[in-house]
Amino acid sequence: MPDVYSPQVYADGIPYDVYAEMRDEEPVSWQEEPALPTSPEGPGFWAIMRHRDVQFVSRTPAIFSARLGGTQLRDPDPADLPYLRSMLLNMDPPEHNRYRKIISRTFSPANIAAFDAFIGDHVAKLLAPLRERDTCDVVTELTDEVALSTLTHVLGVPHEDRKFFFDWANRVIGYHDEDYNDLDGTDAVVDRRSPSELADMIEYARKLADYRRRNPGDDLITALVHSESDGRSLTDAEFQNFFFLLAVAGNDTTRSALPGALMSLMAHPDQYALLRAQPELIGTAVEECLRYAPPVIHFRRTAKVDTALSGVQIGSGDKVVVFYPAANRDPEAFDEPDTFTITRTGAAHVSFGYGPHVCVAAALARTQMRHVLGGVTRAFSSIHDAGPPERLLSNFVTGMKHLEIALRV
Ligand code: HEM
Repeated sequence: MPDVYSPQVYADGIPYDVYAEMRDEEPVSWQEEPALPTSPEGPGFWAIMRHRDVQFVSRTPAIFSARLGGTQLRDPDPADLPYLRSMLLNMDPPEHNRYRKIISRTFSPANIAAFDAFIGDHVAKLLAPLRERDTCDVVTELTDEVALSTLTHVLGVPHEDRKFFFDWANRVIGYHDEDYNDLDGTDAVVDRRSPSELADMIEYARKLADYRRRNPGDDLITALVHSESDGRSLTDAEFQNFFFLLAVAGNDTTRSALPGALMSLMAHPDQYALLRAQPELIGTAVEECLRYAPPVIHFRRTAKVDTALSGVQIGSGDKVVVFYPAANRDPEAFDEPDTFTITRTGAAHVSFGYGPHVCVAAALARTQMRHVLGGVTRAFSSIHDAGPPERLLSNFVTGMKHLEIALRV
């Protein structure tokens, strides 16, 4: 079976031809997990490539648990498991339902609507000086700024602190990439996802909760520290855990989605021109960008019992990994799946996951995408490649570090 595990496989983007071959020939296949500089050899995992199988695994926690081994492909350090299991992402029902209610209230449509104007204004401010320019690095000058400023705004923390969020997410998600590892200059390659490597983030969360308990604001942190579940508020540990999840899950994802969407439009000038001519297509355009260039590559579950999927036997305790980009190009679910069409309707992509863990902040991510894609297509008659993209080395997100583009007003 081809390798879909090593980060190097993703160095030039998603290997869609390999995914297609696997989806057609062995849609549930056993994958080796060789040692990497950042991790020892693992036991291997099942790679799930079909849209319907990805949906089934994601919506069936009674068989495929998020809790048993967490949701990251790589097995966590056993010492970290209790901590990871107290994070929403790594919970199963009924515990998951209780915690999910707390956070989904903070992402209510009314709360998201309140952030819409901020995001729109911020995008407009970032785009204005670019209209005087011929080229820009759209990642550092636009998309990272939008993602990080939105995150700090909705969390109600100072704008300057976005540099901390950039660093935390790079440590947790970008640890395969040498730009974000070896941060202490010792050449030591460390898996920095462990809570022991994130003491500064946990301390920041502790101080922030303390501040917002005494000085409530109009932000998600205030909503969280004042939320109640079963007649009690969140403990410090529960809050810090939510903070960790928001700081990371709401960061690299959008930072990957926005350049990915712009690259898709840039590679299809007819679709760019169509969106510019008919801005009312923004809703389907955002969904097509998410389908065609999904920011998250995979998430993991662990089989709780012996089971079968697409006729393949899966043993209790096996790792099962769903590949969203493969599902999003499944011809069983989408007509001409390799064609990028911003008017596409029909089956839904799985870029936000599916089932009980489906992204709780999808509306916030979509709002950012609407403003960026709408703003760029309004401001520029066309955009073009002005250099190869500099990608984050990762098998988990399709992150981008730099992307030079040429701008035509
Ligand atoms: C385009 C951007 C985004 C993408 C593609 C994305 C993708 C995902 C996916 C695939 C999951 C499901 C994980 C699973 O099934 O194991 C998820 C869950 C989650 N996302 Fe997002 N996400 C995005 C933006 C955000 C943002 C902006 C935030 C917060 C500010 C956020 C917070 C969360 C949280 C808290 C969960 C856990 C939900 C649960 O376990 O019930 N995401 N996201």
